[in-house]
Amino acid sequence: MVLGILGSGSGSNMQAILDAIDAGELAARIALVLSDNPDAFILERACRRGLATGLIDCRGFRTKFPEAAQVETAARLQAAGVELLCLAGFLRLVKRPLLEAFPQRILNIHPSLLPAYPGLESWRQALDTGAAETGCTVHFVDEGMDTGPIILQECVPILPGDTADSLHARIQVVEHRLYPAAIRLVAHNSHLP
Ligand code: GRF
Repeated sequence: MVLGILGSGSGSNMQAILDAIDAGELAARIALVLSDNPDAFILERACRRGLATGLIDCRGFRTKFPEAAQVETAARLQAAGVELLCLAGFLRLVKRPLLEAFPQRILNIHPSLLPAYPGLESWRQALDTGAAETGCTVHFVDEGMDTGPIILQECVPILPGDTADSLHARIQVVEHRLYPAAIRLVAHNSHLP
């Protein structure tokens, strides 16, 4: 399975995918890593590893993923032979040009038990509402924000004394196991629509 990765931040989930590949737990390779943020550590991780990387030109928009940029991104991923696109901490909403280029072939990881707490800083939302547990979800991406069919999810308890940082760190430990497992599931069922 040839993977493409889009990320805006640290890239610890991409690292977990690479580690699973190295450990022989995931039969895949990463063909291209793209970011909308030139300073994102995900690019440095990818470069250190000798992976092909690139910047997405979002035409000066702070949060929008302009249609022309999505068309360009789809073309670069297709030229690299990407079969499955993994969003790993990518902070822009993917829309039709990319969704149509990779139908049922875009995954995202989200730090909550969706449909609970979509959007940003979901671990903080869970903490603020006094929930007893939260978790993380890997799902197919559709036109919505953190909607789309769920592939795998796992609970993370909220402990007394948890802060936003301690909770997010515990969620990430689970994410790093869940994302490679979900990719493996999709790869094994890649004959499905
Ligand atoms: C993760 O918590 C993921 O669930 C969310 O963004 C964060 C990305 O972390 N979508 P990283 O860049 O993979 O370390």
